Amino acid sequence: MKTVLVVGGLGYIGSHVVQDLTEHNYNVVVLDDLSEGHRESLNNSNVDFICANINDTGALENVFTKYSIDVVMHFSAFAYVGESVDNPQKYYLNNVCATINLLSAMLRHNVKKFIFSSSCATYGVPEYTPIDEAHPQNPINPYGATKLMVERILNDYHHAYDFDYCALRYFNAAGADPSGKIGESHRIETHLIPLVLKTLTGEKQNISIFGDDYETPDGTCIRDYIHVCDLSLAHRLAMELILDNGGSYCVNLGTGMRTSVKDIIKACEDITGRTVPVVVSRRRCGDPAVLVASTDYAKKLLGWSASYTNIHDIIKTAWNWEQNKKY
Ligand code: UFG
Repeated sequence: MKTVLVVGGLGYIGSHVVQDLTEHNYNVVVLDDLSEGHRESLNNSNVDFICANINDTGALENVFTKYSIDVVMHFSAFAYVGESVDNPQKYYLNNVCATINLLSAMLRHNVKKFIFSSSCATYGVPEYTPIDEAHPQNPINPYGATKLMVERILNDYHHAYDFDYCALRYFNAAGADPSGKIGESHRIETHLIPLVLKTLTGEKQNISIFGDDYETPDGTCIRDYIHVCDLSLAHRLAMELILDNGGSYCVNLGTGMRTSVKDIIKACEDITGRTVPVVVSRRRCGDPAVLVASTDYAKKLLGWSASYTNIHDIIKTAWNWEQNKKY
């Protein structure tokens, strides 16, 4: 039985991956500093949890000494684009320096299999869509820059140290586990779907559409929303590929579906039968008009494609969670 160290395993995407791995008979060790994660997401008593930050070299030494880790998955990055512009130091220190610290601990202990959460933010403003993996990477904010820096570090480590990895470039993660036991809960919420749903639970007064004058059919930004359980499966498949064959890969994870801000609002209204209070405000800095993934490589490499191919189905799981949140 393989042992997976999931760093940031109590966060939104990490917690869904932990659940999937435990359901598929992997030994899972979670390391999380609880800055964004929720202890309550760990409803499986078979998982060992260490509360620590990957800056903490001593804590990493203990983990890699105590457990025989086969592969590491890394989710513990900061991911607020706006904050990364205002406070880039925070992002470079955590997303890059602390990641290097984690990689150093891995190398010291001869653990050379790594699954990395990268982002479509590494591409910057698309030159064409759908975006394939060969698209130039020119990030337009520090968050995207940190993800690209780590991708480059991983590539160098692969050549120098036989370090095998898969960097998964997520598009817009959305939805929640259909069980309703785990879901999305950020201390500061900035993402569109949870914010729209919060207007329907009364937690929020209205939703601002950040610009309705983009060059898109309805004037609002288009994104590629991918269900978090589809993301989880892709992580497991990528991990199995790396464990079995090694290699170095960068793969987009999206559905290829084009969904505008107005489409999301309409879908939330359809599902709940309620009207979303909307105001139109100015464009948000750094938002490309369209971000949509080409899914060909994920299909070819991992034999994976999204099972949630309808935005209503994705939002239904988010709505189920939003109404009955456990944390
Ligand atoms: N939006 C609104 N109103 C809001 C919130 C969002 O109109 O209150 C719009 C945004 O302008 C954007 C779309 O809804 O057009 C989606 O915005 P999100 O904040 O939900 O997601 P992003 O596309 O900005 O962010 C995602 C990931 C980031 C990643 C980024 C890459 O969450 O981690 O894609 O560009 F960096």
